[in-house]
Amino acid sequence: MISLKGVSKTFNRGRPDEFTAVKGLNLEIGQERVVVFKGPSGSGKTTLLSIIGCMAKPTAGRVFIGDEEISSLPDRFLTEIRRGTFGFIFQQLNLIQGITALENVMLPAYPTGCRHRMLKDRAQRIFEALDLCHRIDAKIEWLSGGEAQRVAIARALINDPAVLIADEPTAHLDTKLSIDFMDIMSRLAHEGKTILLASHDPLVFTSGIVERIIEMRDGRITGNGAGT
Ligand SMILES: Nc1ncnc2c1ncn2[C@@H]1O[C@H](COP(=O)(O)OP(=O)(O)O)[C@@H](O)[C@H]1O
Ligand SMILES: [Mg+2]
Repeated sequence: MISLKGVSKTFNRGRPDEFTAVKGLNLEIGQERVVVFKGPSGSGKTTLLSIIGCMAKPTAGRVFIGDEEISSLPDRFLTEIRRGTFGFIFQQLNLIQGITALENVMLPAYPTGCRHRMLKDRAQRIFEALDLCHRIDAKIEWLSGGEAQRVAIARALINDPAVLIADEPTAHLDTKLSIDFMDIMSRLAHEGKTILLASHDPLVFTSGIVERIIEMRDGRITGNGAGT
């Protein structure tokens, strides 16, 4: 479904601080449900995930989603594909303080023009599935760490994406919350979502739900095998 051919990303091209974070990667992600990108800090995981998730364009190479080459599309089409295909869970969660959990979750759906009532119903169902209904009207700053994490998951699900991308999702979670997080990912994988995780947390990459581990170092893929 996702295919990369010779993909590179160079930052600050032509400047003294030019840096190539991803170097000529070839990669196919097909039927696997849960894939982990594993590698030390600075190995290019976030850069690669942002290219796959249409948040950044490669400086060389081609990216395909299904049969469509997305690397050549103008930004406005890329934004549309991103919104329809990917849901993102960021390490820092990036939830907006001062507004409620529900409002945070609904935000990424506003540009789709979906009717407010429908959207709210959809959001409520997601809150139910994540056992979070009691916090739906709570402001973000009132939530516990685990609740905030689930709101971030709910927000990633609002546009019903085929692919969830989570970048170091357990970096700020204790063991119990990390296990809870992986349990939710397991459920979503069973529901048919594809889940791409960047992590060097053993709790993530040794999880039974992981079908494939792609190891990265210095912007290159150094290992590519089945999960445990
Ligand atoms: N916007 C940027 N400008 C310059 N260098 C960057 C930028 N983003 C990332 N890098 C560099 O690219 C390398 C890979 O970063 P990143 O993809 O964030 O790795 P990881 O997620 O594996 O820690 C790092 O050395 C980082 O400093
Ligand atoms: Mg990173």
